[in-house]
Amino acid sequence: MTKRILSGMQPTNNLHLGNYLGALKNWIKLQNEGAECLYMVADLHAITANHDPKALAKSTREIAAAFIASGIDPAKSKIFVQSAVPGHSELMWLLATIAQLGKLERMTQFKDKAGKNAERAGLGLFAYPVLMAADILVYKATHVPVGEDQKQHLELTRDVAATFNKNFGETFPLPEPFITGPAPRVMSLRDGTKKMSKSDESDYSRINLTDDADAIAKKVKKATSDPHDLPGSKAELEGRAEAANLLTIYSALADQDIEKTINEFAGKQFSAFKPALADLAVAKLAPITKRMTELMADPAQIDAYLERGNEHARGLSEKTVAEAREKMGFWK
Ligand code: TRP
Repeated sequence: MTKRILSGMQPTNNLHLGNYLGALKNWIKLQNEGAECLYMVADLHAITANHDPKALAKSTREIAAAFIASGIDPAKSKIFVQSAVPGHSELMWLLATIAQLGKLERMTQFKDKAGKNAERAGLGLFAYPVLMAADILVYKATHVPVGEDQKQHLELTRDVAATFNKNFGETFPLPEPFITGPAPRVMSLRDGTKKMSKSDESDYSRINLTDDADAIAKKVKKATSDPHDLPGSKAELEGRAEAANLLTIYSALADQDIEKTINEFAGKQFSAFKPALADLAVAKLAPITKRMTELMADPAQIDAYLERGNEHARGLSEKTVAEAREKMGFWK
């Protein structure tokens, strides 16, 4: 069986350093290992949270631009838009008849997102994991790179696939979650106990994939640190969230273990470490943010890449939907 990778990212989050280090780097690695990769902008998922209709198309292009700027090569990987491929929604309905309510009710992401107001949550938010199962199964993907927070959704996907196979005949491979390498937890540059996030009020809390070299350097130099020297061991990072975060970011950018970074800077002051981190961040990120800005200035080019990917994805997904319909016994 050949490997087929599928993953997606929602166009709700303005991309920042955390996304790049956490997810895109792994996607690129898989692509460069020669796997067949399908990477989509999950816009149907994005509308399960309040979204701004005026911003959706632009953020869809922005995610696609970030994929490409980060190193996803449209000549190697297929990049496409979920809503442009009808097979996702179509297969979702078929799978919705199989997915069990009890399992959906146990989804921690739903509980988190719906909060105290679960009664008022939309059906789409509740059914989100079923759409995700359809995303994966409609391509018969074998491996799905995801963050820790999506593992439960992958389990549901495997469940739904197994039930379908049992009820209607062998159709879907059971997809493996693929958590390649440690996904670094990138925290706010202002507060090392908070996740780096687009919604943080302070732009100094994050590095955006559209920041230029000056902005990147400035943000790193202004990042919150603490009054101590850099630690000599990992154990000494205990209770030093900001130091841990900056060392984590350095290690991820340098593609090395945090132990190695700690050894490099043990006993030094932040005034020595920060410029090194700023230089590294600029060297690694500025080419990406530059390409990102160029791409965003040429939406027609982004659309052309996406159209190509959409067409490929439609071809693959139509076959699977036809097969599922036939197995379920529909009239034609
Ligand atoms: N739910 C995923 C997230 O928020 C995005 C996503 C949608 C996805 N469909 C997918 C990821 C299918 C992997 C496979 O991160």
